[in-house]
Amino acid sequence: MQEPAIKVIAMPSDTNPDGNMFGGWIVSMMDLAGAVEARKLVHHNLVTVAIDNIVFHNPVFVGDCLVCHANVEKMGRTSITVKVDVYVERKNRKAGQHKEKVTEGRFVFVAIGEDRKPVPINAG
Ligand SMILES: CC(C)(COP(=O)(O)OP(=O)(O)OC[C@H]1O[C@@H](n2cnc3c(N)ncnc32)[C@H](O)[C@@H]1OP(=O)(O)O)[C@@H](O)C(=O)NCCC(=O)NCCS
Repeated sequence: MQEPAIKVIAMPSDTNPDGNMFGGWIVSMMDLAGAVEARKLVHHNLVTVAIDNIVFHNPVFVGDCLVCHANVEKMGRTSITVKVDVYVERKNRKAGQHKEKVTEGRFVFVAIGEDRKPVPINAG
């Protein structure tokens, strides 16, 4: 498996009022991981236009290390689609020893110009 785009530890500040991990935080990490990969190939400013159905298969706990792998699936005319797979390395386990799949999703980014309109990828 290739190097992750992002590895980050889930902090108490990333939880909701009940102490469960805030799903929006995980989605924002996935969005960043997708952007890290997309920016390697697209040199315009990028905005997220779409995120496909995300299902959380397993929980993330405070202290777990969230590991986001990102792979470009499709280059369109003005858009780039990145698949993001998310795992956790559980707290108190040796890094890389045990990874559990948490969720996955597809993120579509669009290259925009100064007028914020879509522009062909890497033209100009
Ligand atoms: C992204 C944005 C510039 C696209 O403008 P638009 O006029 O809808 O653009 P288009 O219809 O020409 O589509 C541009 C590309 O996005 C893709 N796209 C648009 N809507 C999509 C959707 N719902 N799902 C997947 N791809 C989509 C199109 O297929 C096209 O890709 P291609 O050129 O590679 O074929 C505009 O919708 C926008 O500014 N959205 C807000 C983005 C933002 O602020 N995101 C941050 C989170 S708030």
